[in-house]
Amino acid sequence: MQYTRKVMDHFSNPRNVGELKKYNAVGEVGNAKCGDIMRMYLYIEDDIIKDISFKTFGCGAAIATSSMATEMIKGKSIKEALQLTNKAVVEALEGLPPVKLHCSVLAEEAVKAAILDYLKKTGREDEFEVDKCKGCCKACDHAH
Ligand code: FES
Repeated sequence: MQYTRKVMDHFSNPRNVGELKKYNAVGEVGNAKCGDIMRMYLYIEDDIIKDISFKTFGCGAAIATSSMATEMIKGKSIKEALQLTNKAVVEALEGLPPVKLHCSVLAEEAVKAAILDYLKKTGREDEFEVDKCKGCCKACDHAH
């Protein structure tokens, strides 16, 4: 299987790994296709993602896509972060082998789950449209 240089970089030196010392939102999701798990920690202030980290029991592609996803939304507003798609993350990594595309769904869903956790805790869960896609119905245009 051929991985791009960027995928190998983020797999070998993942950014933002571990549990944040200070966080106010956490999201955990499982991958319906392989059973792997992803947890995303966010520290949000004034609706801005000030800090972010992830932990995963996932494969190398899950590690690389999560690493890239955290870099893409760090410092962004929660509104912008909710627009992050696994396709955009895969593009930023210059592609993934087709059989590994499903791995990239974990990062996107964990980000959304963590933001939803934040919105619930602050009583604002109806304020944003949060796509609760579980990556299995193929009704949307996600790359899974
Ligand atoms: Fe499970 Fe990649 S095989 S996330």
